[in-house]
Amino acid sequence: MDKPTILVQLDTDPHPSTFDRVVAVDAGVQQLFSYGGVKPADVMPLVHGCIFTRGPKELHRTALFIGGSDVAAGETLLAEVQKHLLPAYKLTVSVMLDSNGANTTAAAAVRAASRHLDLSQTSALVLGGTGPVGQRVARLLARHGGHVRIGSRQKDRAEAVCRAIRATVRGANVEAVGTVSSSDAPAALEGRQLVVTAGAPGVLLLPRKHWTACTDLQVMIDLNGVPPAGIEGVELTDKAVNREEVIAYGALGVGSTKMKLHKAAILELFEKNTAILDIEEIYALAQRIA
Ligand SMILES: NC(=O)c1ccc[n+]([C@@H]2O[C@H](COP(=O)([O-])OP(=O)(O)OC[C@H]3O[C@@H](n4cnc5c(N)ncnc54)[C@H](OP(=O)(O)O)[C@@H]3O)[C@@H](O)[C@H]2O)c1
Repeated sequence: MDKPTILVQLDTDPHPSTFDRVVAVDAGVQQLFSYGGVKPADVMPLVHGCIFTRGPKELHRTALFIGGSDVAAGETLLAEVQKHLLPAYKLTVSVMLDSNGANTTAAAAVRAASRHLDLSQTSALVLGGTGPVGQRVARLLARHGGHVRIGSRQKDRAEAVCRAIRATVRGANVEAVGTVSSSDAPAALEGRQLVVTAGAPGVLLLPRKHWTACTDLQVMIDLNGVPPAGIEGVELTDKAVNREEVIAYGALGVGSTKMKLHKAAILELFEKNTAILDIEEIYALAQRIA
C-alpha cells in the first residue's frame, strides 16, 4: 500500500499560513506538517527529516511547500532547501515556492491575458511592477517576447526589476517608467494593449479617465483584492467582463484560476521527488490546466 502523502510546510511567518494549509488539505494532502517562523538555519534538519526517512522509491510521497508573506525570505529558504537535497543519491523531495501567493497569482494573471492576446506581440504595462507579484507578471510577459513597461513611483526601482529580468530572460524587452502619480498614467499607457495592476492592497493606481482614453488597450487585469480597486471601474469579480470595450479581470476573477493552479501544483509535487516548482514551472502548469 502507498504511504500517505506528507506535505511539510515551511513558513517564514510566525504562524504558518492558514490559507496555504486549507488549500493543501483541499488538494488532498493526507498529512500536513506545518512549521512557522522558519529561518535558513532551521532548514537543514527539516530537509534531512524528509529525505532520510523514506526510501528513494517512496520519496515522491513527501514534499515541501515554502510560504509566508515575505517573498524574498521564501526565495532564500528555497535556495537553502536545495543545498540540502542529495540528488546524487536520489535523496530528494519535490519543493514548491508560493510565498504570499506570488507565483500562483502571477501565473494565473498572465494565463488570463494569454486567452485574449498573443503575448509575443503584446505591449504591456505592469503597474506596481516592483512588488513580488508584479515582478513575476513582468518576467512571464517578457518571456513571451512582448514589450513590457514596468511602473514604479521610483523609476530606479523599476530599473532594478528590468535588470533582474534581463538577467534571467534572454533578450527581454523591458522598460522602466516612473509613475509617481496617476497623472503619469497616460504616457505609461501609450500604445499598450495590456495593463496589469499589482499594487499594494487598497491602492488605486489607474483612474478610469486614463484607461478609457487609451485606444490601444484591450485587456486590463487588477490583482488588488482590497477595495478600492487598483483600476477604477474594474470589479473584484470581473472575469473577462467587457468594460467599455476593454476585457477586464478583477482579483477574484483571477483568483479562481489561482486556486485551481495552487491545488494542481500541490498534486504535481507528489508525481515525482525531483520537482522544483517556482514561477516558470507553475506558469507551465497553468498553460496545461487553466
Ligand atoms: N488575487 C489574488 O489571488 C492575489 C494573491 C496574492 C496577492 N494579491 C494582490 O496582488 C497585489 C500585489 O501583491 P504584492 O505582494 O506584490 O504587493 P506589494 O508588494 O504590497 O505592493 C506592490 C507595489 O505597489 C506599490 N505601492 C505600495 N504602496 C503604494 C502606495 N501607497 N501607492 C502607490 N503604489 C504603492 C509599490 O511599488 P513602488 O513603491 O515601486 O511604486 C510596491 O512594490 C496586492 O494587492 C495583493 O493583495 C492578489
